[in-house]
Amino acid sequence: KKKSVGLQHCKPTSSVCVLDSKDATFFIYLFIHSFLYISSVLRVFSLLFCFQPQINYHKKFGKIFQMKLGSFESVHIGAPCLLEALYRKEGNYPQRLEIKPWKAYRDLRDEAYGLLILEGKDWQRVRSAFQQKLMKPTEVMKLDGKINEVSADLIKRIGRAQVNGKIDDLYFELNKWSFETICYVLYDKRFGLLQDNISQEAMDFITSVKTMMSTFGLMMVTPVELHKTFNTKTWQDHTVAWDRIFSTAKLYIDKNLKRHSNGNTGNFLCDIYHQSHLTKKELYAATTELQVGGVETTANSMLWVIFNLSRNPCSQAKLLKEIQDVVPAGETPCAEHIKNMPYLKACLKESMRVSPSVPFTSRTLDKDTILGDYTLSKGTVLMINSQAIGSNEEYFDNGKQFRPERWIEQKSSINPFAHVPFGIGKRMCIGRRLAELQIQLSLCWILRDYEIVATDHEPVDALHSGTLVPSRELPVAFVRR
Ligand code: HEM
Repeated sequence: KKKSVGLQHCKPTSSVCVLDSKDATFFIYLFIHSFLYISSVLRVFSLLFCFQPQINYHKKFGKIFQMKLGSFESVHIGAPCLLEALYRKEGNYPQRLEIKPWKAYRDLRDEAYGLLILEGKDWQRVRSAFQQKLMKPTEVMKLDGKINEVSADLIKRIGRAQVNGKIDDLYFELNKWSFETICYVLYDKRFGLLQDNISQEAMDFITSVKTMMSTFGLMMVTPVELHKTFNTKTWQDHTVAWDRIFSTAKLYIDKNLKRHSNGNTGNFLCDIYHQSHLTKKELYAATTELQVGGVETTANSMLWVIFNLSRNPCSQAKLLKEIQDVVPAGETPCAEHIKNMPYLKACLKESMRVSPSVPFTSRTLDKDTILGDYTLSKGTVLMINSQAIGSNEEYFDNGKQFRPERWIEQKSSINPFAHVPFGIGKRMCIGRRLAELQIQLSLCWILRDYEIVATDHEPVDALHSGTLVPSRELPVAFVRR
């Protein structure tokens, strides 16, 4: 017999109450102190929704539980069987939780929505325009030349930037690497972010993305309309950042289209534009959101795999051997080589399981849906806690251990819904294959030239700041082979 909702409630703790959206004093408090308290509010938000608490809540309340945060209710799922049930019942246009601040900016400037915020038939139309180029393996493989050009720059950059093997702010270097790669793919333009002298334009572009990302979190937990009405600093910074992102993206999209104006060219964006029925406005918005979606996620996953290899020298040695066996010395690694590198793929998978960069995704149900023993009504917000699943001993023996072999030896016994770092179903990450190829190729470049060594063995925690970031500068060094 199916129970109707009746899920175990997670009693709000005092920190949860701070975020009660009905509480007027909360808003007064927030607006007076908004600038000072941005980071602490975000931290509370992250404590509520993300990382360790989610894992602990699942341990305490089971595979599915409901959470009430003021008037905001969400149901959290953390079991492969429930994900599979959701996947099987998914409609044509799955929805995620709205990113209202982004929509508010688009509405203000009369811009279109991109894939991250579109819904319904419009989402499907834009998604199909990009689907083939980004999700079809043979299409993504064609991008290896561009990825390699940037990887070659990354290697040179590591050589120049390291002092005794240590790189100051490795995360920023990797953000520049992923930014440069995605821009090269999308706009066919090099920004030179891995050079020593970065142009002002390139610096402004990457800074705008950083500012935009760091300002929208607060407006996710407080009404964006109020930020607009009071023209808060957060809203101003957010708007200025998007203005810069859109104007730079438009400039280079237009230049790219002009360069390849005579039809089918093999150019990523021009082919999409000419072969789809997207308007220019839709192309601008979708491209911009691909760029924004592809920078920190990829850099962060690369950062964690570097860390995990530094702490597991045997895995690193095994990986190097595979690279040397498959890619002849002096030859450039390419997408064709990666096909024959199961251990490399396993290392990335394992790293994304042990240290995922995006710990959860969400869905808003568009119809009443039965998941396991529960009937969830239309409109329910579901939080899909992929990290909680990936770290659960029930699905992964010695789950804390980094053991890439599990993806080779136990391949057939691991439930595919137990590892979903890119989400699930029709709305899963569209940049997945590009990101994987980028990380895999760049790892080949790095490991051939450098040994990644751990400079200490103290724990490194993961903090939530949108993605899961290390709590301190990574204790790794790059030692030339
Ligand atoms: C969506 C993770 C790289 C663009 C997502 C989602 C996750 C995710 C978890 C939500 C999926 C869902 O709701 O089921 C990651 C990770 C990456 C990565 C871990 C790197 C390792 C990229 C790249 C791009 C990109 C390189 C751009 C080329 C997007 C877009 C969406 C998305 C546009 C929204 C798709 C839609 O709703 O149709 N990503 N992503 N991502 N990602 Fe990624």
